[in-house]
Amino acid sequence: MTHHPRFGVWGIVYGAWGSRHHPEDPVDASWERNKKLILEAEALGFDSTLIAQHIINPFGEEHDQLETWTTSAALAAVTERIEIIAAIKPYLVHPVVLAKQALQIEAISRGRFALNFVNAWFKPEFEKAGITFPDHDERYAYGKEWLTIVRELVSGKAVNFAGKYFNVKDYQLTPKDPYRDRPAIYVGGESEPARELAASTADVYFINGQPLFEVQRLIDDVKRRPRAGLPPRFGLSAFVIARETDAEAQAALDSAWELNAKDKEHRAKSIGNADPKAVMLQTAIKYPHIGTNGGTAAGLVGSYETVTQRIWEFVDAGIELFMLQFQPFESEMRRFADEVIPRVRASAERRSSQVA
Ligand SMILES: Cc1cc2nc3c(=O)[nH]c(=O)nc-3n(C[C@H](O)[C@H](O)[C@H](O)COP(=O)(O)O)c2cc1C
Repeated sequence: MTHHPRFGVWGIVYGAWGSRHHPEDPVDASWERNKKLILEAEALGFDSTLIAQHIINPFGEEHDQLETWTTSAALAAVTERIEIIAAIKPYLVHPVVLAKQALQIEAISRGRFALNFVNAWFKPEFEKAGITFPDHDERYAYGKEWLTIVRELVSGKAVNFAGKYFNVKDYQLTPKDPYRDRPAIYVGGESEPARELAASTADVYFINGQPLFEVQRLIDDVKRRPRAGLPPRFGLSAFVIARETDAEAQAALDSAWELNAKDKEHRAKSIGNADPKAVMLQTAIKYPHIGTNGGTAAGLVGSYETVTQRIWEFVDAGIELFMLQFQPFESEMRRFADEVIPRVRASAERRSSQVA
């Protein structure tokens, strides 16, 4: 059997994943743009989309922000095949409500829904609303109870849970998932409790873009931890710059850095708003990059051949899903679908015939 990785695109929840000053990529976080973009991604053969979650824009509240769960429900209704992953920060919604919403979107999408548990780093979103924002590790302790309840409920089980934060008695959701055991569960986060939670409670561990040896270290760490059921799978976030030649890709990366300099104030705002204990932030500072969530630090920058080769290096390390950002999003996404995906598929054929 030919095995090749899955590819996904990030919904444009902030209106741009690179610079806000790109001349051919006007900032637009609207539903209309996202709908069009994700329908096109599906038609181009992308397998998945991730809708990140923020209620207000972490780069400045004056900027537009797309809402995750309403968007995911609407996408579920208009798409046919693509997986829809919605991010959720546990303090924003009670687990029984969130589990019910997840099952409803699973039904609307006919079995294509997943949630991405994210522990939150953007303080003002909570503090200004009067929602509690405890210390990093306590947020994970709360999150573990929260995700345990959600996982049981979306599995159709009757839940009795008495913990430090939740007290749920004889709660069961009807109807159950008619398509599979339950929607998929992803966890994104780099700290110790994030890795523990991914190993114990998630199907897929989502990793921010960073060099291969760091990704390998995180994968090995999660694989070593106690776990029941199927082995964990792994996803990687990356911002792609692919061109005919390595030199052209390098030139495009240089121009991206020039534009990036214009976003200085915007970026400083998001760092000022972040929990300094978020390990993701420390990795981001260690590996400067274009895009968010590691972006170009994953190294998917180069000729079509180079990018294809790097993708396989990550696949060999254990990555199964690549969640991608581009700029300008639409045209670079088409280029990736035209130039890189066929090369990855061709090398998958070669690799499987070598094995056979
Ligand atoms: C693929 C991916 C997607 C993420 N999406 C979001 C998101 O939508 N909203 C958010 O606040 N954080 C998001 N995060 C950030 C993680 O939740 C972040 O790592 C966490 O806030 C800090 O936890 P840590 O200290 O365990 O890294 C994402 C992380 C990854 C890897």
